[in-house]
Amino acid sequence: MTELNEIALKIISDGKGILAADESNGTMTKRLEAVGMDSTPENRLEFRETLFSSESMKECIGGVILYDETINQITSSGKSIPDLIYSYGAIPGIKVDTGAKNLANSLEEKITEGLDGLRERLKKYYKLGARFTKWRGVFSISNKYPSKQAINSNAHSLARYSALAQENKMVPIVEPEVLMDGDHSAEDCLSITSEVIKKCFDELILHKVDLSGIILKPNMILSGNQSNHKISNDEVSKKTIQCLKSSVPNEVPGIAFLSGGQSEIEATENLNLINKNNNTNFIMTYSYGRALQQGALKVWSDSNKDTKATQKIFNHRAKMCTLASLGNWSKEVENK
Ligand code: 13P
Repeated sequence: MTELNEIALKIISDGKGILAADESNGTMTKRLEAVGMDSTPENRLEFRETLFSSESMKECIGGVILYDETINQITSSGKSIPDLIYSYGAIPGIKVDTGAKNLANSLEEKITEGLDGLRERLKKYYKLGARFTKWRGVFSISNKYPSKQAINSNAHSLARYSALAQENKMVPIVEPEVLMDGDHSAEDCLSITSEVIKKCFDELILHKVDLSGIILKPNMILSGNQSNHKISNDEVSKKTIQCLKSSVPNEVPGIAFLSGGQSEIEATENLNLINKNNNTNFIMTYSYGRALQQGALKVWSDSNKDTKATQKIFNHRAKMCTLASLGNWSKEVENK
């Protein structure tokens, strides 16, 4: 077993999942303002420290993805954020892309940037304690898109990023997100997501990335959020497995889904069914942002930053997601 494979497995084994707390300051400002809180560095730290010191970090969370501001912050007890995460047995990771910009000659599409100077930034993050990284490529579905140009250029960037992360002894999370925005069918989502993931692996292989030392972070197969043809949760799980079975090489140890705008319950229920129906060798777990934090953020704001009340909600959510990663979640345990 290589060192990278060992780190990847430590993050996602035994029902553990990933807490994606790597919202950029821009995104975090939207999330905080939506619940009536000011987006100051202190508030961002306080909310995140509340989550990272929750009891469920020990049994449920294998890794936490941080943003540049957070990995450099010091907690109220004087510890660094990575040390706080390590003290709960989880591994700190870091988002290293610098965001999605308009793609030249296809301006309605996005290309994720951040390759310039990446080697040096990775070395800095390793010293701060990070042992895994994240880069997100984003694709939207419409009559015209995604174009081959967007699929190829984002896959190329994901592969170059992954090779650099591994060179610096960190596990790359490879995140090609096909957005749920639009009125497309689940069939369209299935065929486009499969094409995108296959292209990513073509490029990862071309760039000699060790596939046993990555974690894939894809979207689930859903119909568009404006589609009139919703499919059942069971169909979501079957289509998602079908997609991954046909497009992900066997060496990949695991898959950690993004929630992508699904509600907390939807994201939990779908993950649970994916694990119940999983007929692959891949570990299938979560790497949720909104679907782990939404409820906790609301309570944090409503309760005037009550740590215990906020952690109670987060602990429940993380526990439900971990049960779903083991295929053991049910509506009864959710509402107990
Ligand atoms: P969501 O689960 O809110 O989609 O966030 C996951 C993530 O890390 C997106 O890059």
